[in-house]
Amino acid sequence: MARLLDVIREELDLTGTKEGCGEGECGACSVFLDGKLVNSCLVPAAQAQGAELRTIEGVADGEQLHGVQAAFLECGGAQCGICTPGMVMAAVDLLRRCPQPDEAQIRDGLAGNLCRCTGYVKIVDSVASAAKRAVAVAEQALQAGAGANP
Ligand code: FES
Ligand code: FES
Repeated sequence: MARLLDVIREELDLTGTKEGCGEGECGACSVFLDGKLVNSCLVPAAQAQGAELRTIEGVADGEQLHGVQAAFLECGGAQCGICTPGMVMAAVDLLRRCPQPDEAQIRDGLAGNLCRCTGYVKIVDSVASAAKRAVAVAEQALQAGAGANP
C-alpha cells in the first residue's frame, strides 16, 4: 500500500518532505493534511484522497520565506536537511495553536520531531524568535492602524 510520503516525494516530486525513520517517530515527513500536522509515512495515500495537502514547499510565500523559516536560518536552527523541514512544519503548527509559547511549550510542541546531531537549543531559540517576530509584526500593524486613525 502506497504511503502519502511516497506519493509526495516520488509522484508529486516534492522532495522537501524527508523520510527519516519511516515509522512515525522522527517527524521528518511532517505535512499538513486538511490543516492537521501528520507524519506522512504513516498515512496511506488513499486516505489522503481529496484532502488539502500542504508540504514544506508551500510554507514560503513565493520567494518570501515564512517567518519560521527565516528565524531557523538566523538562529542556526536549520541544522540538517533531513530534520529541518519537519521541524519547521511542527513550529508553524505550534505557533498557530500557541502564538507565544514559553520554552516548555516549544519543547513540547516539537516533541514529535527528533534531532540526533546537535540538540535542540538552537531549534528552540529559532521558534522563540519566530514567535517574537510575529508579535513585532502585529504591533507594527497596530501602530500603523493607530496612525491612520488618530
Ligand atoms: S519518517 Fe515519518 S516520522 Fe520518521
Ligand atoms: S537536525 Fe537533523 S539530526 Fe539534528
